[in-house]
Amino acid sequence: MKAAAVASHDERIGNLVPLPLIESLRTIVGTSNVRIAEVSGTIEQDAAIIVLPASTDEVAAVVRVCCQYEIPVVPLGGGTGLVGGSISHIGEIVLSTARMNRIERLDPVERTAVVDAGVTLEELQTAARVHGLEPGIDLAARGSATIGGMVSTNAGGMMAFRNGVMRHRILGLEAVMADGSVYCDLTRVVKNSAGYDLKHLFIGAEGTLGIVTRVVVKLDPSPKATATALFGLPSVEAALETIRMAFQSSVGHLRAAEAMWNTYFRLATSAYGWSEPGVALDQPIFLLLSLGGARQDALHEDFERLFCETVERFPEATGIIASSRRQENDLWRLREDSSVLYRVHPSAPSFDVSVPLSEIPDYLERALAGLVAIEPDLVPYVFGHLADGNLHIILNRQGPLPERMAEAVERVLYDGLRELGGSFSAEHGIGSKRIHSLLATADQTKLATMERIKKALDGRSLMNPDKVLPGHGWFVRCPGPPASEVRRSQRQNETAND
Ligand code: LAC
Ligand code: ZN
Repeated sequence: MKAAAVASHDERIGNLVPLPLIESLRTIVGTSNVRIAEVSGTIEQDAAIIVLPASTDEVAAVVRVCCQYEIPVVPLGGGTGLVGGSISHIGEIVLSTARMNRIERLDPVERTAVVDAGVTLEELQTAARVHGLEPGIDLAARGSATIGGMVSTNAGGMMAFRNGVMRHRILGLEAVMADGSVYCDLTRVVKNSAGYDLKHLFIGAEGTLGIVTRVVVKLDPSPKATATALFGLPSVEAALETIRMAFQSSVGHLRAAEAMWNTYFRLATSAYGWSEPGVALDQPIFLLLSLGGARQDALHEDFERLFCETVERFPEATGIIASSRRQENDLWRLREDSSVLYRVHPSAPSFDVSVPLSEIPDYLERALAGLVAIEPDLVPYVFGHLADGNLHIILNRQGPLPERMAEAVERVLYDGLRELGGSFSAEHGIGSKRIHSLLATADQTKLATMERIKKALDGRSLMNPDKVLPGHGWFVRCPGPPASEVRRSQRQNETAND
């Protein structure tokens, strides 16, 4: 009975990738760490073969053997990505970092941690907290998002306005390249000007140039006390002004300034049955603020000062200062649990834009008018990391949108954004779902350079293919000479005309 079951299991695997490859993978990582998932019919799980290496050496050996059989490798971290960066197809192998979960070293004097790619953000936060430290980056999916995945998408979250994004938190990085060689630069110092800083090629590359296996994360001292307040405000201008005033705290520092526009806030509060006498639910925008400092009573006093100053400027403002851990958690849940939206609008189309702060009021006004022009009841739920200009915009529709409508929405939200100094993709990456938008909006020289880098490092497109850049036919989509040549000839013409 058992032999028959194994044979049928192998037969199923054999339909997906060559059996000798599977044998080699089993030798590398152990039989139980080569798994076949049920093919669910959803494109996300089509690859079905999941390999779970436990070390960099095992990842390198897996990549080498896949390279030999020309089988693409799709890296998988916590699976929290939102743009299809780890979807896979039949004939590919999914490489999960779930077993690479060691915090190898955490040095409180250096304020650094050397961690495997599969360590979750929360695991690192918990380990650092013991020493009064923190990774300086925080996001709602902390419980499942892995450090490797966050590096690969260059994640941002809510402390980015202060501490930068993942790219600014990583001192050193190790990655397995497409040919199975290991790029190892586990530098633990901030300053390193020894040649090209190649770790940045892998940060934000979503596994398309190699698989990140270990990183050195910079840690910061965490404040002894924190305090949270929620302000209801009459406009986004008022929220931006309140953030500016919050930066002037004399007893602490601003740690987060998260905004929730009315449509989102009302949905979240009604889902949780939340209300507070001090907060008027009909305010246009709500600002969730966190201060860090030495003493909580001083932080509370500072929030009171901030609230008084805010009301002086904006008499309609309302607000509360959380007075217990439970109240604080309830407020953060309103902001962080955006799943309440998807329960009402399954697969709702979502956008993740960055807008320079001074442009946000006009951008949003134009966006709202543009969406209503597409369909009168097309309403966005907006929330996000206002202090750095990162807005999450979710539409009140069950996704996916019909193609024409999707195109019209993207035009409204993305056109001119790069020229304004913003970005159509702030912190979620490109994955497979945003490639067309990247091609439509990015600088041509940037695209051409990205393609040259991809070809140089992964000429056979075996590293997470069809993510970030299209696997094939890129030049078909973008005919004509590279933009740099066009500009050069334009410049020559201009000079000739002078
Ligand atoms: C957040 C995710 C959507 O900020 O980026 O909750
Ligand atoms: Zn976010």
